[in-house]
Amino acid sequence: MTAKRIAEGVYYTGTIDWDRRTFDELVALPRGTSYNSYLISGSSATALIDSTEPSMADELLRTLEEMDAEINYIVSQHAEQDHSGTIPELLEIYPEAEVLGTPPCIEFLEELLRIKGNFREVRDGETLSLGDKTLRFTVTPWVHWPDTMVTYLEEEGILFTCDFFGSHIATSEIMETPEDFLREAKRYYAHIMMPFSQMVTSNLSKISKLEVSMIAPSHGPVISEPELIMDAYAAWTSGGDGVVIAYTTMHGSTRVMVERLTEKLMELDVGVRPVNVAEHDTGEFLTELVDASVLVVASPTVLTRPHPAIASALYLVNALKPPVKYVAVMGSYGWGSLIESEVRKLLSNLNVEYLESVLVKGLPLEEDLQRVDELAMKIKGVNGW
Ligand SMILES: Cc1cc2nc3c(=O)[nH]c(=O)nc-3n(C[C@H](O)[C@H](O)[C@H](O)COP(=O)(O)O)c2cc1C
Ligand SMILES: [Fe+2]
Ligand SMILES: [Fe+2]
Repeated sequence: MTAKRIAEGVYYTGTIDWDRRTFDELVALPRGTSYNSYLISGSSATALIDSTEPSMADELLRTLEEMDAEINYIVSQHAEQDHSGTIPELLEIYPEAEVLGTPPCIEFLEELLRIKGNFREVRDGETLSLGDKTLRFTVTPWVHWPDTMVTYLEEEGILFTCDFFGSHIATSEIMETPEDFLREAKRYYAHIMMPFSQMVTSNLSKISKLEVSMIAPSHGPVISEPELIMDAYAAWTSGGDGVVIAYTTMHGSTRVMVERLTEKLMELDVGVRPVNVAEHDTGEFLTELVDASVLVVASPTVLTRPHPAIASALYLVNALKPPVKYVAVMGSYGWGSLIESEVRKLLSNLNVEYLESVLVKGLPLEEDLQRVDELAMKIKGVNGW
């Protein structure tokens, strides 16, 4: 790709992965993604911020060759391979380049890439002069690994943030913030940042002291209105009042309960989103959980336990720790069910209150559905709607 100038002496040198459809074998990428790096050319030295995914190495190297770039510093903001994976190749071409990262980042680079080299540890607040340009490093641990930092280009007010504020979008208009960008950024937040929401909050307040004109993350488009994403992150870390129903059904009995609960909640003016977790990628469900306060788990019984699609979804919920405060269990069984106790085990990481379960033998009768209505009333009550 040809580099794109984003400010005086600052170039986007990212690689765009148009066809990639999953990340980490976990995150669905309906719109592909990009691995962004940036070349900053000062009057006395040049720095490259991050690199790219190993499979895209040739593309990055070609771009840098076209630019006839001389690289003195490689700033590694985060050691995960989608950003650092090409540093070994870069060091073959630019053997004199110094690699800068936080102390945990440098340790990771040695362990994950098995490279030894010209490393320099960066401390919080430290600056690096490129002559007429100055980079200031701010350590922002746990967004989303222990090693992460952001880099502020003082003269231009550009904040390079790596995964922080990223979104998985492949676009040729890297400098235009797409209209529906926040939906993708939210899906990204749900998978990558949500488990560390407290650290996200403290890092947000740390960087809010900087005067930022543009945010340049390492996935997706450059964000020309920083307050858009900063405000969205502030909202996402504070949770919300949504109701999410995670369900699936084999023969339709559980679905009858889910439909009744959805209708009743809508009648009560409670915002609700049912998601059949066996039919959607997990992103749909996780994105909704970012601002959910009530999770309803609705599952048929399979070999005494919740359906495996539900168990798998709950495994993720337990790991990603959404801001849910209440959980209710619904479901259908044929002869005996342990789904309620199993759901509690699967969600053992969450500090939640359980509402009364509605478990029904076979297809629900009207009296069973009245218990569903009662659950809806209860949800309205606890949620303060
Ligand atoms: C593969 C399979 C395993 C099942 N295992 C159990 C079980 O261990 N205990 C039970 O009570 N019902 C079991 N059932 C019966 C279902 O839970 C029951 O048919 C229920 O009503 C299905 O709900 P659904 O219509 O929402 O799929 C099993 C059904 C299937 C297809
Ligand atoms: Fe990462
Ligand atoms: Fe990443």
